[in-house]
Amino acid sequence: MKRITSGIITAVLVTALVGCAQRPPTPQVEKVADGELSVPVNYKSWPKFLSDIQRTDTKQVREIYINPIGHSTKMGEDFPHGTITVMEIYKAREAADGTLLKGPDGKLVKGELLKIGVMGKGPGWGENVTPPELKNGDWVYAMYMGDGKTKAPDDYTTCRACHLPLTDKDYIFRYDEYFQKRAK
Ligand code: HEC
Repeated sequence: MKRITSGIITAVLVTALVGCAQRPPTPQVEKVADGELSVPVNYKSWPKFLSDIQRTDTKQVREIYINPIGHSTKMGEDFPHGTITVMEIYKAREAADGTLLKGPDGKLVKGELLKIGVMGKGPGWGENVTPPELKNGDWVYAMYMGDGKTKAPDDYTTCRACHLPLTDKDYIFRYDEYFQKRAK
């Protein structure tokens, strides 16, 4: 009996330790709502989803990261529960006359980090979204200022409304581009 008990305790401890090592720093069991995910501290060590996205229209450059769980997804699949993506939004630098500066590579030049957006999905997340028509599967949204800590004033219904039409791409813009680039 004693041996069985200590075996169980060891198993529980090992499970807890392994669980800790693999789990992203956001709660997986609790249901998470918009604005509740924080910017993961280690996201810069994650795989790149896409780099140097040129948004001349909004005068921005964007960098997207995806956690290893999300990165294990195969093209055509939805991203699994536990997926988190982080998007850095940089201001593109402008000349004094307001035109966008270009680097020697012809690309926009990154200026200040304006905001950091986070998307994550888990079981039952985003369940109580209002209005319910704006539910984006199990994804929830959060937006921070460039310091990664101060909440941005964005209204989360705008995030949901813009990402909503991408139902067959699991609500992820540039889904195809990501898998095509990754395959190379
Ligand atoms: C007007 C449309 C629009 C709105 C509103 C919008 N997004 Fe997005 N989002 C995009 C596009 C387009 C991309 C792909 C990157 C790009 O082209 O800039 C994207 C990408 C992302 C990504 C990277 C993962 C992915 O889906 O590719 C995150 C994270 C994200 N958005 C979070 C947010 C959050 C949080 C909000 C609300 C505060 C928001 N978005 C509002 C259009 C939008």
